[in-house]
Amino acid sequence: MFKIDSDERKAVDVICNIKKNMKKNNIESQILVIFGSNGDLSKRKLLPAVFQLYIDNLLPESFVVVGAGSQEKDEVAYRVDVRESLSIFSKKTIAEYPEKLEEFLLKVYYKKVNNQQESDFSELKNYIDSLSEQLGITKNIVFYFSIPPFLYEVVAAHLVKYGLNKEEEGWKRIIVEKPFGYSYDTALDLDKKLHAGFNEEQIYRIDHYLGKETVQNIMVTRFSNGFFEPIWNRKYIQRIEITASEKIGVGNRGGYYDTSGAMRDMIQNHLLQVLAVVAMEPPAVFDSDSIRNETVKVLQALRPIKAGEVAENVVRGQYISSQIGDDIQKGYRQETGVAANSKTETFVAMKVFIDNWRWGEVPFFIRTGKQLPERVTEVVIHLKPAPHQLFKQLCLTEPNNMIILRIHPDAGVAIDFGMKIPGAGFKVQNVNMAFHYSDLAEKKISEAYERLLLDSMTGDSTLYARADAVKASWKFVDPILQAWKNNPDIPLYFYESGTWGPVESNNLFGDKYVKWRQPFEKFKTE
Ligand code: BG6
Repeated sequence: MFKIDSDERKAVDVICNIKKNMKKNNIESQILVIFGSNGDLSKRKLLPAVFQLYIDNLLPESFVVVGAGSQEKDEVAYRVDVRESLSIFSKKTIAEYPEKLEEFLLKVYYKKVNNQQESDFSELKNYIDSLSEQLGITKNIVFYFSIPPFLYEVVAAHLVKYGLNKEEEGWKRIIVEKPFGYSYDTALDLDKKLHAGFNEEQIYRIDHYLGKETVQNIMVTRFSNGFFEPIWNRKYIQRIEITASEKIGVGNRGGYYDTSGAMRDMIQNHLLQVLAVVAMEPPAVFDSDSIRNETVKVLQALRPIKAGEVAENVVRGQYISSQIGDDIQKGYRQETGVAANSKTETFVAMKVFIDNWRWGEVPFFIRTGKQLPERVTEVVIHLKPAPHQLFKQLCLTEPNNMIILRIHPDAGVAIDFGMKIPGAGFKVQNVNMAFHYSDLAEKKISEAYERLLLDSMTGDSTLYARADAVKASWKFVDPILQAWKNNPDIPLYFYESGTWGPVESNNLFGDKYVKWRQPFEKFKTE
């Protein structure tokens, strides 16, 4: 009676395909301007993402990329640079589609812009006008701010000055990279300044974690399956762990990182966004506003951690030098651009509560750090034990019931539960059923920046952070940052590179038998 028969299924497929094609054809003629086009992000992520969209036939016929950078060069020289960076960062794609690279490079242009020089923007405007006329491209423009944060408001003001925010002749959108502000007040201030020339629909605050297929898959896992949603609450869930560990240190980003730290770099944005997706209520419909209305409610419901509670609920750490194999790893304070007595945290673990009906007293444990043993991002849902511990009566261990949402690497979902070991008696052992995302997709999982750039081009801001969400997450982390700054007694724990951070992070669980899950225990990349 409840079965969808094959005719119905076909009808659904037909409607979905029509919708998909409508969306694809809706990508209008447009120009992508990248400020900071000679920088690392542009070379490593943005240009490879645009190139991939081109290969996938997702860009409109009339489309160009304009690199806007401070170096003096013409478009021929810029194309040489782009060829070089794509040959590194899109190596596989180029090997497969060599002729596409030549076609793509013809869509790449360059204009020298000193972002602090207002008059350069008048020249940029003229350049865009003449490109648009020459190539017959509508002045729909995405401006990507791949520049140091202090320049966001400067560039926005310069665009406004020359009417590059006006939508009479085509829409205008700005993509603003993180960090969006340095604190609650500076984020509000930046928002105010951007809003002076752009309305909220024109501002795209990028958080590349939201562009990750596997973060979006959390919503699909939760809201398209009958069996997850009923248990996704305080009644069945004991605690949730969210880990984003990185194997690398700060590398050549010491200057930036030392003013940021793990709390601003990873928690305020990426990890709180992941938490919001894990904890949100199901939206009534799947559209940008409805989804973002639900995620922001989670961030607004985070229980504030007061100054006096910080030491107990938040553990900060900093990596020190250590020997890994034959290599001596530098300590954080020895990294270039880092102050010799820096107190910046490269590791944070914290206990967080969401004060709402669904989550009641369920603790969320969040952890991130650099120079840890593996690069892993995952969410672990620990379910409450069975109500009557039958096998414990026989002095046998009860299994741990876990749902693991692996964001990367080896993206997928795993369920851990207890099974009887064959043979005499009733020995129970934890087993693991794992789905590897790579088994589902025929092609490789798209990079976050591909998805996000495409969405900004079609005007879909679902996976971009809205002003109220950014504000709510700053409101939550700000008092912690303040407490660290004002109270030198709150310890900064040192940990050796290549370890899982300070052992004190296990104290957050308040139970000597409970520890952080070691990410590679079960969900292995074979
Ligand atoms: C960036 C941070 O936003 O995210 C980096 O600035 C961090 O410090 C990176 O390394 C992690 O992203 P991913 O996708 O590799 O987990």
